[in-house]
Amino acid sequence: MSGHDRSWSPSDRPPAELEAGPIVLRRWLTADLEGLAAEVERSRAHLAEWQPWALTADREALGGFLAYSEWSWNARTDFGFGLREADGRIVGGAGLHARIGPNALEIGYWVAADRINRGYATAAARALAAAGFELPGVERVEIHCDEANVRSAAVPRKLGFQLDRVEADEKETPAEAGRSMIWVLARPS
Ligand SMILES: CC(C)(COP(=O)(O)OP(=O)(O)OC[C@H]1O[C@@H](n2cnc3c(N)ncnc32)[C@H](O)[C@@H]1OP(=O)(O)O)[C@@H](O)C(=O)NCCC(=O)NCCS
Repeated sequence: MSGHDRSWSPSDRPPAELEAGPIVLRRWLTADLEGLAAEVERSRAHLAEWQPWALTADREALGGFLAYSEWSWNARTDFGFGLREADGRIVGGAGLHARIGPNALEIGYWVAADRINRGYATAAARALAAAGFELPGVERVEIHCDEANVRSAAVPRKLGFQLDRVEADEKETPAEAGRSMIWVLARPS
């Protein structure tokens, strides 16, 4: 494998549904378009502060994202989930991404603007880390976030991840510092 080839995939998939404290994580399906589009519309400014995709994510783009999520689930390269409350409302998204090289998965997350600071991202990341370590070959999980994104950095810190390094990264939104914190959690022995 070349130094730039980040492709790798585990030989199995996580469960399609994960219990995560106050929320449930359910694998993204194309049928989620209405709920996802409504949440992104409501939370657009909040999300776009740190996630540039949110600025331009219309129904068509989100439909493409959900179709990609179904494809990548089957390809075992990217496992994306919607965060749901008990009544089924989608209140965020999270995923396990096989894009950081062999034997590792990256966790990403976002939470609806009116649902932040309830522990949802922490609950989702905790459940995804546990599910990741159930997969064959996964030795570590990582969370990458911009140094200025203090709300996001609180999540790996609370879950016992170690800050491995800070790297120069593209500044994608005005709020970003342009430096990524790489938080790492090793497979529990
Ligand atoms: C980052 C994000 C996912 C956090 O979601 P969340 O569900 O609110 O996260 P949690 O409630 O699990 O934890 C948030 C923590 O941030 C802390 N926090 C909130 N505002 C803060 C601030 N201004 N400064 C420092 N810490 C802050 C909270 O106190 C909480 O920690 P605590 O439980 O120790 O008190 C959410 O804010 C979001 O969707 N942001 C936009 C998208 C994004 O940045 N995604 C991550 C990209 S790396």
